[in-house]
Amino acid sequence: MSRKALIAANWKMYKTPAEAKAFVDAFLPLVAGHDRDEIALFPSPVLLPTVIAACNGSNVAVGAQNIHFAEEGAFTGETSVGRTHTLIGHSERRQYFAETNEIVNKKLHTALKHGLIPIVCVGEVLAEREAGLTASVLQTQITGAFAGITAEAAGPIVIAYEPVWAIGTGKTATPEIAVDAHKIIRAEVAKLLGADVAAAIRILYGGSVKPDNATSLIGQEEIDGALVGGASLKPDSFTAIVKY
Ligand code: PGA
Repeated sequence: MSRKALIAANWKMYKTPAEAKAFVDAFLPLVAGHDRDEIALFPSPVLLPTVIAACNGSNVAVGAQNIHFAEEGAFTGETSVGRTHTLIGHSERRQYFAETNEIVNKKLHTALKHGLIPIVCVGEVLAEREAGLTASVLQTQITGAFAGITAEAAGPIVIAYEPVWAIGTGKTATPEIAVDAHKIIRAEVAKLLGADVAAAIRILYGGSVKPDNATSLIGQEEIDGALVGGASLKPDSFTAIVKY
């Protein structure tokens, strides 16, 4: 089954509106007409209006880095459902903002209810890998995230495998490590939602993806794209990854 790759930029808490606009103005001509892969930018919430307006009518989608599970309410400082895509459960959300598998699950239900394309992030920390716990951590994260999700509803879901020890560290997982993890994740999805959903679901790799390692990672049959942090901040390097 062929799955269209998705190359996603996670800008985290970087860029001013002027910098975001300058990025998009430089980036769109570089990827004009590129339809082999889907491309999406995930800017911080304050940049969303600027980036959405600048990407309007282009081949580049724009999504949120996070959503709250409620549509509205007394949640000071939180943001509700954003645009067409949203990240859910990024490891920095889990690590610094106490996001549990249960919260990730509630957010996934909210995203699907609102027709968003959710990118559910999972991945083990270094101590878990070294203790031989990678498979059980990934299985627990997937089972937790997918609680109550039916095969019929799961169509839009994308998963990103992001080993925490590879995020922002310059230490990329080898293609073999990434492929092994993706197989564990796909098998878990098959167990929960059946072989058809598992065969169709896209699993991205994230963690120090750079222009010089993008081809060896995304080129793997099991790897359906990339979630890119640091190397997505400059139009040239993100374009090189998009065109792996
Ligand atoms: P990185 O971040 O590419 O800077 O490692 C990836 C991510 O956090 O999604």
